[in-house]
Amino acid sequence: MPVWERLKACRHLVIVACGTSYYSGCVGRYVFEKLTDIDVEVEVASEFRYRKLNFPSNTFIIALSQSGETADTLAAIREAKRKDASLLGIVNVVGSSISRETEAGIYNHAGPEIGVASTKIFTSQLTILTLLAILLGRHQHLSLTEGVEAIRAIRALPDQIRAVLAQNNHIQAIAEKYYKNSNWLFLGRKFNYPIAMEGALKLKEVSYIHAEGYAAGEMKHGPIALINPDMPTVAIVPKDDMYDKMISNINEIKSRRGPVIAIATQGDERVREMVDELIEIPPSLDYLNPILSVIPCQLLAYYCAFFLKRDIDKPRNLAKSVTVE
Ligand code: AGP
Repeated sequence: MPVWERLKACRHLVIVACGTSYYSGCVGRYVFEKLTDIDVEVEVASEFRYRKLNFPSNTFIIALSQSGETADTLAAIREAKRKDASLLGIVNVVGSSISRETEAGIYNHAGPEIGVASTKIFTSQLTILTLLAILLGRHQHLSLTEGVEAIRAIRALPDQIRAVLAQNNHIQAIAEKYYKNSNWLFLGRKFNYPIAMEGALKLKEVSYIHAEGYAAGEMKHGPIALINPDMPTVAIVPKDDMYDKMISNINEIKSRRGPVIAIATQGDERVREMVDELIEIPPSLDYLNPILSVIPCQLLAYYCAFFLKRDIDKPRNLAKSVTVE
């Protein structure tokens, strides 16, 4: 049966990837589960290969990789191939190994990404996963109205991204205030939980500052013990159905004198009153907010690295494509 026919009938997806690509897959899981009837698992590629892989029939494995040469992801899809899984690739480098070893796929066509840190590719991966979810959703239970609403919101993103980038000087000033702090915490929920993880990774890999990304609901299970005046917390708190719970998290941190840098929806005066720093993102659909909320995280990492005089494009110990396991 042709790939497209099998994909339309698919009700179980497994996304395998590493690093930043893994975090885009984690956002994709929430998006697919919102827009389609498909169950989605996301696995770190280096762990995926140790699983029994007893997936339901007609499971598709999607390999997400900018370089298409990441050894862990390649090993994972080769293991999946041995178990007769259907393989798709979402890859930026045309003709790369992963693109050749999957039976079909989507090229990002985002152009070469020069810096070691993945930034524009992350945005591209999120957009492609969302478009794929809309396409499959429209063959399932996503209505025409919901599909049109999604496409209209996606078309608004370029101008909205420009509005976030226009806060560049403001974000630089925030980084200048906190770049000497040696531990940061990033918190988010649902669609923005993976953005908290990605924000922490960006800060770690370009500035070498220790940072942890956490599901905000996990704060009370341990990390809250870390809160102190010297540890800034980046709280991703857009106006979505997680807003009230994120407000509670911010209150918990402020009551323990932790500085909070909030990424919130434009015009949110309530959050502005509560936090130490506010970075605003334009209003969008909840599942598109990550495309906007990741940009302040990327810029905070960039400017902290700048003030620390790091080699931002080529951070120490890192490679653009990790071709060793
Ligand atoms: C991204 O900022 C990192 N440099 C790294 O985590 C990267 O995302 C990971 O190595 C996966 O690379 P890939 O997308 O080329 O497979």
